[in-house]
Amino acid sequence: MSDIKKELHEKIKYADDVIAGYLPKEEGLQSVIMDAMSYSVLAGGKRLRPILLMEMALSFNGNAEDVKPFMAVMEFIHTYSLVHDDLPAMDDDDFRRGKKTTHKQYGEAIGVLAGDALLNYAFETGIRAALTFKDKERALKALSVIADKAGIYGMIGGQVVDVINDGKEKSKEVLDYINERKTAALIQASMAAGAILAGADDEQQKEIEKAGLDIGLAFQIRDDILDVTSTDAELGKPVHSDEKNNKSTYVNLMGIGKAEDEVRRLSENAIDRLKNMNIDNEFLFELIRKLAYRNK
Ligand code: IPE
Ligand code: IPE
Ligand code: MG
Ligand code: MG
Ligand code: MG
Repeated sequence: MSDIKKELHEKIKYADDVIAGYLPKEEGLQSVIMDAMSYSVLAGGKRLRPILLMEMALSFNGNAEDVKPFMAVMEFIHTYSLVHDDLPAMDDDDFRRGKKTTHKQYGEAIGVLAGDALLNYAFETGIRAALTFKDKERALKALSVIADKAGIYGMIGGQVVDVINDGKEKSKEVLDYINERKTAALIQASMAAGAILAGADDEQQKEIEKAGLDIGLAFQIRDDILDVTSTDAELGKPVHSDEKNNKSTYVNLMGIGKAEDEVRRLSENAIDRLKNMNIDNEFLFELIRKLAYRNK
């Protein structure tokens, strides 16, 4: 195993443990909802957002221990976005992270509620953490960025523009508008929050969000490529979901080759931007490169 592969493996394991530690206990007459939350969160996944949050905190000389609850916050919000994205009213997909989707396992009502619950529990977790964080203003600022980027100007906004354009040809501008929000926003939030918690200032936050935008766009374009070129078994979710839902993507717009070039260009751009801020985190740069070539 290469060094970066081994390091990533270890970081994923660390993130898995951190996230698991913040899930609610299964108790009360409503315990099925805690069960459904754990089912969707513990199914696995790349844990990209928590890892980015931690790496940005480390890049600003923060410590990993302090940002643990915020890592869980990002994964809870991300997982909620997936649970709802898979619902019959949205992409109508039956598999996620190699398992049945939450609504397939628990029924649609609990599927909807599990998403709601994860979103709310993310903020329960984040606010609780902010109340004891050593620098409360930083914690509040980080939560504010996370809330904005998850909302109607961020991820939800992107999902809205995505679904109302099903079946329509989209221009590159509209496609970018969607991808900047539905996917890049939570990546920007993760990176900015980690840096802010460790003391990044407004200027640095802005630069990090620009880098996060490129990483997020690259990430979604690669996701769209894999939707065409990969397999259900490799991805752990159904391929050809975009075709089924008549979604036009970069792949339809410019073909796989050009889409791949764009992923590489955006990723290198992001790395240059971070390096220009005097961030010196080889693992982070290698991770960004690895994402551009990922197979799942
Ligand atoms: C899937 O996100 C949804 C997109 C934004 C493309 P990930 O590819 O990060 O999903 P997991 O967390 O690894 O399952
Ligand atoms: C959805 O994009 C991104 C969010 C969940 C916000 P996709 O619909 O392409 O994600 P996958 O392919 O189902 O993971
Ligand atoms: Mg979708
Ligand atoms: Mg989907
Ligand atoms: Mg997809």
